[in-house]
Amino acid sequence: MTIPPTTRPRDQAVIVTGAGSGIGRATALAFARVGAHVLAVGRRAAALGETAAQNPRIAVLPADITADGSPQAVIDAAVDRWGRLDVLVNNAGATTVMPLADTDAQRVSDLFALNVTAPSLLASAALAHLRATRGAIVNVSSTYGHRPLPGAAHYAASKAALEQLTRTWALELAADGIRVNALAPGPTESQALTAAGLPDAAVEQIKQDEIARIPLGRRGDPEEVAAWIVHLADPAATWITGQILTIDGGLELT
Ligand SMILES: NC(=O)c1ccc[n+]([C@@H]2O[C@H](COP(=O)([O-])OP(=O)(O)OC[C@H]3O[C@@H](n4cnc5c(N)ncnc54)[C@H](OP(=O)(O)O)[C@@H]3O)[C@@H](O)[C@H]2O)c1
Repeated sequence: MTIPPTTRPRDQAVIVTGAGSGIGRATALAFARVGAHVLAVGRRAAALGETAAQNPRIAVLPADITADGSPQAVIDAAVDRWGRLDVLVNNAGATTVMPLADTDAQRVSDLFALNVTAPSLLASAALAHLRATRGAIVNVSSTYGHRPLPGAAHYAASKAALEQLTRTWALELAADGIRVNALAPGPTESQALTAAGLPDAAVEQIKQDEIARIPLGRRGDPEEVAAWIVHLADPAATWITGQILTIDGGLELT
């Protein structure tokens, strides 16, 4: 009997960055539900603890992935614990609202450090281990990685960079049997807008504007995004690499 990919029990070791909230938490829980061991990474130990409390297969590592040496330490922590690494999910990321007139070098640098440099260093540190397992990398981009976003151009540009890294790594690593794909969510319920420093009224206004523009008439739930991250990392998904999968309620069609 053929078992559908997401319900097949998995003996995988998985790293999920940004697993203390939103899409990352849902992804950690989704992997744990199919039997994977998950290392949940993020800066806030308490938030990671809330994720791990929901499933004993989740271990936590509080870490700022932009700090010197941190990407290597994250990979080492997973390999020390489980002796292998099958999947790296580069989910941690941030949005910065910054119209061109307000462009600030430090904010651009911080945004790219988190959304582009940290995933690169994590993937690089993971390489030997992913070669050993013929594993997978899933990067979390955004529908705005391939659509313009007035007022947040550098966020869109950072995700466009992540998408191009995805395609290029897919080719670079194909001979090693490592698959590299990206998920591009549309507006999804999470702490992202609040984390960007926007006041509550502005967050609510953005949400209402997004709902009005999304053909399916609502923002996404983190679980709806997580399910596809788990699919892309499935060892049975042997013939997909270098793809950017948009999950956005049809927003991209508008
Ligand atoms: N929600 C959306 O509408 C949407 C749409 C498209 C794409 N995305 C992307 O989806 C991903 C997840 O975002 P989300 O929506 O779930 O937002 P979120 O709830 O704000 O999650 C982001 C996570 O990243 C972690 N993080 C931030 N900086 C970090 C650092 N320096 N080191 C380690 N971890 C760090 C945060 O945890 P700590 O603060 O504890 O570190 C947080 O758990 C992001 O890449 C985002 O760009 C989101």
